Amino acid sequence: MCKKPYYITTPIYYPSAKLHIGNTYTTVAADSLARFKRLTGYDVMFLTGTDEHGQKIQRLAEAKGVTPKAYVDEIVAGIKDLWEIMNISYDKFIRTTDDYHVKSVQDIFKKLYDQGDIYKDSYEGWYCTPCESFWTETQAVDGKCPDCGRPVEKAKEEAYFFKMSKYAPKLIEYIENHPEFIQPESRKNEMINNFLKPGLQDLCVSRTSFDWGIPVTFDEKHVVYVWVDALANYITALGYGSSNSDLYNKYWPADVHLVGKDILRFHTIYWPIMLMALGLPLPKQVFGHGWLLVDGGKMSKSKGNVVDPVLLVNHFGADPVRYYLLREIPFGADGLFNNEIFIKKINSDLANDLGNLLSRTCAMVEKYFGGIIPSATAKEAIDDDLIKVALNTPKAAEQCIDNLRIPEALDCIWELIGRANKYIDETTPWILAKDESKKERLGTVLYNLLESLRIVSVCLSAFLPDTSEKINKQLNAEVITWDSLKSFDGTKAGSKVNKGELLFPRIDVDEKIEELNKLKEQQAAANRPKMQPLKEEITIDDFEKIDLRIAKVLACEPVKGAKKLLKLKVDLGGEERQVVSGIAKFYKPEELVGKNVILVANLKPVKLRGELSQGMILAASTDDDSKLLTATIESELPTGSIVR
Ligand code: MSP
Repeated sequence: MCKKPYYITTPIYYPSAKLHIGNTYTTVAADSLARFKRLTGYDVMFLTGTDEHGQKIQRLAEAKGVTPKAYVDEIVAGIKDLWEIMNISYDKFIRTTDDYHVKSVQDIFKKLYDQGDIYKDSYEGWYCTPCESFWTETQAVDGKCPDCGRPVEKAKEEAYFFKMSKYAPKLIEYIENHPEFIQPESRKNEMINNFLKPGLQDLCVSRTSFDWGIPVTFDEKHVVYVWVDALANYITALGYGSSNSDLYNKYWPADVHLVGKDILRFHTIYWPIMLMALGLPLPKQVFGHGWLLVDGGKMSKSKGNVVDPVLLVNHFGADPVRYYLLREIPFGADGLFNNEIFIKKINSDLANDLGNLLSRTCAMVEKYFGGIIPSATAKEAIDDDLIKVALNTPKAAEQCIDNLRIPEALDCIWELIGRANKYIDETTPWILAKDESKKERLGTVLYNLLESLRIVSVCLSAFLPDTSEKINKQLNAEVITWDSLKSFDGTKAGSKVNKGELLFPRIDVDEKIEELNKLKEQQAAANRPKMQPLKEEITIDDFEKIDLRIAKVLACEPVKGAKKLLKLKVDLGGEERQVVSGIAKFYKPEELVGKNVILVANLKPVKLRGELSQGMILAASTDDDSKLLTATIESELPTGSIVR
């Protein structure tokens, strides 16, 4: 029989930094859905990848002194390693630097231009470099990016624009008529009321101020700006626009794009409009999950509260991390990651409920039957409820997954685990074992427990794949198909259990937290930049030789032919001077105008790239020169004042 296709995607990740537990969340959730669908008979295509272009990557690479491609290659390798240790079963990994993607994006751009959906204009707005987003005056409150809160910069340049507004009414109608399209429901209203109804602005889709992107074929100084490049990955990965579009024909439209709520707008407004313009069907569903928060709010490098998934997996294994993310975070809402709750959950749910059920059951089969699985020949009414719950669990879990309710699917599985543990208390096998005439009944009780565990294990394989494999090994379970869960007899009597190690040894919460905290401190200390050794001591007379002055920047412009240099005209009180400074990578010329800087005013003038530099402005920088700040003074003092 031909299997039904199922196409699920994660966002493609920016390779700008190591991924944290929040990024990992999206992919673990998508992986559990993909595995569940494979288990239940679908022909799954699970896509993930990396979003590698843009100014931020270019800047990071420059700061490191490598090409952008070399820079992303290294980070992408790390991302793939992370997916391997998290057991992510993706079918395809797309990189936006892949040739086929580049070619297809160029063709898409040209097509949209030729049909009049893309036009050339110039853009002026507030730009957030880390988010690669332009914002309007009203959106960028207090000069900050409304998404990430970081400062935005004024930017103006020639750019191509996508006529989003043209398609807005059609999109509103589509969303209204397809209530399942944006999930959860509350996010749908947010998209319509906050973005679509107030009026869509046309979207800037090309840039000229950096070149790490996909060149526009008919206007080469432009590169395709991040979202058109990134969103198209969902179809280019399937061969859309290439000579072989079999996968596209089979899998598109996607069943679900799983994304964080921060990028839902791009996926439910810009992406559908792009597809409409291309005359392609829209994805069936876009699900926006919530944020993973840590104590103290959002994770950020500057707060130093970023949770490293690799560290967690090294300490606890992949499955406990997957379990916590999938069961503890309400799917669709924000949730908390906290070490103490995490470890307590491992102890209670994984070690106590599941681990003990398996080890007690296998131990009893060994003790009372020499490890040979008995048959269920002495049924009693008390078994009925356990069997009913066991047979219902797969269906109930499937229903939850069909509605993308991942934690609830795990609730169903834990209901069976709880029911089986209760069944041990109800049937008291250790008492049955004392009476030789009850041997057959004892065998039946143990069979029922083994069979319940087999059902648990098959269902769990989508969520905790390593654990499921370990359980199967201990149970010696050979039949692990979804179909075999329809009846309560898949366990083979006569084969032998392999009682192995504890699935989840109990963890001492306080001890472990102390260990983790120490490790975090050590990591932070190792990452802290070492202070440069101090220079040789000088006397006050030596210092007095340096004439430092407050100077106001009157004008500033790039030095032609020198990428790193800016030429500043400064007012020193009595005179005007020209200073050349190697800060072009860190400041736009207009950002400095009007600022008071500190000038080394008696430095011997030199010529830099043919431009006279009469002095030097003070700045602080990191050792690797990846960050730099000029020393500015907010001062009432007149320019020319001495700094000492
Ligand atoms: N490159 C874009 C996506 C383009 S898709 C065509 C991007 N990349 S990202 O690396 O910044 O984010 C990847 C995913 O991680 C997004 O779904 C984002 O919402 C998610 N998360 C980032 N931080 C998160 C948390 N703290 N919690 C949960 N998810 C978070 O966006």
